Amino acid sequence: MPNVVCVGAQWGDEGKGKVVDSLSARADVVVRFQGGPNAGHTLVVDGETTILHLIPSGILVPRTLNLIGPGVVVDPEVLFTELAGLRSQGLEISRERLRVSDRAHVIFPVHSALDKAREEIRSIAIGTTGRGIGPAYESRVARTGIRVHDLLEPDTLAERVRVALTERNFLLEKLYGWPPADEGEMAERAYAWGEQLAPYVDDTGVTLDRALRAGKSVLLEGAQGTLLDIDHGTYPYVTSSTTLAGGACAGAGIGPTRLDYVLGISKAYTTRVGGGPFPTEDTGPAGQHLGTVGREFGATTGRKRRCGWLDLVVLRHAVRVNGLTGLALTNLDVLTGLSEVKVCIGYRVQGKQLQDFPASIGLLERCEPVYRTFRGWAESIEEARSMDDLPQAARDYIRWIEDAVEIPVDLLGVGPDRDALIERANPFDMVRPPRRF
Ligand code: GDP
Ligand code: IMO
Ligand code: MG
Repeated sequence: MPNVVCVGAQWGDEGKGKVVDSLSARADVVVRFQGGPNAGHTLVVDGETTILHLIPSGILVPRTLNLIGPGVVVDPEVLFTELAGLRSQGLEISRERLRVSDRAHVIFPVHSALDKAREEIRSIAIGTTGRGIGPAYESRVARTGIRVHDLLEPDTLAERVRVALTERNFLLEKLYGWPPADEGEMAERAYAWGEQLAPYVDDTGVTLDRALRAGKSVLLEGAQGTLLDIDHGTYPYVTSSTTLAGGACAGAGIGPTRLDYVLGISKAYTTRVGGGPFPTEDTGPAGQHLGTVGREFGATTGRKRRCGWLDLVVLRHAVRVNGLTGLALTNLDVLTGLSEVKVCIGYRVQGKQLQDFPASIGLLERCEPVYRTFRGWAESIEEARSMDDLPQAARDYIRWIEDAVEIPVDLLGVGPDRDALIERANPFDMVRPPRRF
């Protein structure tokens, strides 16, 4: 069966949770491959809302196995809170439904403290989620991080925690003037985390490989989005992981030859939370319409999302750097009621037209969007389940986008609910050549 990767094509919050939940009906295994509890993925099933930060968005589909891959940074406290939330909805999650990679790195309170301390003193804040993501990934590459399997090795845990904290505490106390973490207390907490996590810990790469060899379908779920990627996003206003489809393999522990379809998820307009340039941001009535009708508030921090028009320079960049096979265009229903709908087709800067997304933030800040204007529509489209159910103006808008980005819009979101989806082609229907062994 085919294997599908879902990635955000903009600045995050594109509706990945909803799309992954919908597609999970066709998947056996769902894997988160990067990021951490900075993510907030919203699932709406029969009117009931679930927000997930670490647990993959396949969890509400009973027959799926959900894996938190080695590329994820795990805050055990957030994970336990999430499990408790699911339990209160009547879902008891066992090892048959959820496993956590033994190679994943653990977020400690010092990471979150450092994240917040840095934001406080930055002249221009990145607007991070304060969840310790950047500092935890730093510990990983500095090779002083604690991995999930370390939590299960009590003989060496205290010493590992000491090593992990030394430098972090020095920075916290001496550079930022924050109270340092107590080594003994942290070692005890790490031990307790290990005991609580133990039933879920697994070599998820091996489990995934077994599933693939048995011909199961795998859905890889990205967090954040292409423009928040550490290399290909709006650096330094980015997150600290590789959010692209190319990172999915390393973050899940499989090879690129296993992937069949790369789905990019984009809203029919654009939103962004946190700082950094956003060329098509609209602070006028149109932006207010998008924010109000789309209920654009962050699922993790509750912050108001900045809103603006769809940006094809961004989308073409996402098509290229992810090698997207197709798009899921979400929140199309939010455009209902606008008399006109604009799309940015290029940037104008210093008297020139720019077609490619620039590396320089300084240059990006000077870019003026060039718009093409489409007529809007007034009809409600939440009940639409095929292209034929959509008003002509919406169909024109979608077809024009497809031509401009040169990939098909295979899925269309017309409401927050799991079923509010127009499926023009299903990524799991891709025919793949047989494997030789
Ligand atoms: P994610 O981080 O990519 O999973 O996206 P979020 O959950 O942070 O934000 C997406 C928001 O849009 C959530 O409130 C979803 O319930 C909502 N949503 C998803 N798809 C649609 C859609 O097609 N229409 C509408 N109106 N809302 C949607
Ligand atoms: P999902 O998976 C939207 C943003 C933050 C900030 C920047 C860096 O729900 O799409 P970080 O805490 O990662 O160091 O913050 O990235 N950000 C997100 N924006 N959706 C997300 O995740 C995000 N995760 C991080 O607002 O601008
Ligand atoms: Mg989100």
